[in-house]
Amino acid sequence: MDLPKIHSITKKIFVALVGGFLLMFLLFHMTANLFILRHDDGQWYSAFCHFMGTNWVVKIFEIVLLGAIALHMLLTIWLAITNRLARPVRYHQASQSKTHPGSKLMMWTGILIFVCLIVHFCDFYFVKLGLVKGEYMVEAEKLQTEEVMTIQQFASQQGMEPQEFVDAFEAQVMQYAPQLTYDDQQEMKKNLEQLRAAVPVAEFVKKAYAEGNLSADRKWIRHINYDERQMLREAMPECGVEPDFYYMAREKFSHLYSIIIYLIFFGVIFFHLRHAFPSAFQTLGLNNYKYNPIIEALGKIYTWVVVLGFAAVPILIYFGL
Ligand code: HEM
Repeated sequence: MDLPKIHSITKKIFVALVGGFLLMFLLFHMTANLFILRHDDGQWYSAFCHFMGTNWVVKIFEIVLLGAIALHMLLTIWLAITNRLARPVRYHQASQSKTHPGSKLMMWTGILIFVCLIVHFCDFYFVKLGLVKGEYMVEAEKLQTEEVMTIQQFASQQGMEPQEFVDAFEAQVMQYAPQLTYDDQQEMKKNLEQLRAAVPVAEFVKKAYAEGNLSADRKWIRHINYDERQMLREAMPECGVEPDFYYMAREKFSHLYSIIIYLIFFGVIFFHLRHAFPSAFQTLGLNNYKYNPIIEALGKIYTWVVVLGFAAVPILIYFGL
C-alpha cells in the first residue's frame, strides 16, 4: 500500500507543534494534580474537576487533546516507516553521535507511554466516560428536590422509612380519591408518581447522611458506588453525579503496586521528554549555537519539574504527607 506523500520535514514540523501542545498540557495537568495534595477533603480538586467536567470549552479542549495524542503517535509511526523504507539496508556501524539516550529510544518510550496511558485512563478518565466503574460524588443540594424534601421531612416526623411513608400516604389519599373530580384525581396520580420516583433518592440521601458521607464543606455527597450512580442518573438525570477523582486518587496511591506502576510511567516520560523538548526546538529551527545552552537548560528544568511534580502526588499520599 502506498502511503500518501507528505514531505518528512512537514511531518516532523507537525510532530513538533503537536508535541509542544502536549508539553503544555502536561505542565497544566501536573500543576492541577498538586491540588490532590491539599488536606482540604478535596474542596479545591473537586471544584477543579467539576469545572473541567462541566465546562463546554474544556470538553472541546479534551477532544482536541485526544486528537493531538493520536496525531502525534500516527505521525511518528509514519515517519519511522517512511525512514525505514527510504533506507532498507541498515547502517553497518551504529551512529556515534552524542545524542540523549532518550533520542534513540523515542519510539519505544512513546509506545510505553501509550500503554501506561491506557492503564491511566482505566484508573481515571474512562470512569468519567462510564466505561470503567469508580467512586462518585454529587452536589448535595442537587438532590434536595421538593419531593425528596417532603419525604424526608414527613417520614422523619412520623419515624418511618421513606418507602413506608409514601405507601402510608398513598393509602390515605386513595380513600379520598373517589370524592375528587377527574382532573384532581389525575393531578393526585401525577404527584404520587413523582413521590414514588423520589423514594430511592430519599433513601439514598438518608443513608449518606447517616454514614457521614459528606465532604467537610457539606457540599458533596461522596462514596457513591456504581449502582447508586446508576440509580441517581435514572431517578434524577439532571443531578450531575460525577467521578470523585480526589478520593479515587488518594485511594489508588495508598497501594504500593499503584505507586510502582506510576513511577515507572513517570520514568518513561522523563526519557521521552528529555529528548522531546530540545528536539522540538530543533525541528522548528528555533535553535542556534547562541541559544542551544538555554534551550538545553530549559528542557532539563521543564522535564525535572514535570516529572517530580507528577511523582510527588503518589509518593506524598503514600507516606500520608
Ligand atoms: C500522579 C499522576 C497523575 C494523576 C493523579 C492523574 C490524574 C488524572 C485524572 C483524575 C484524570 C481525569 C480528569 C478528568 O477527565 O476530569 C486524568 C486524565 C488524563 N491524564 Fe492524568 N494523571 C496523572 C498523570 C498523567 C500523566 C503522566 C499523563 C501523560 C503522560 C496524563 C495524561 C492524562 C490525559 C491525556 C488525560 C485525559 C484528558 C483529561 O481528562 O484531561 N496523566 N488524569
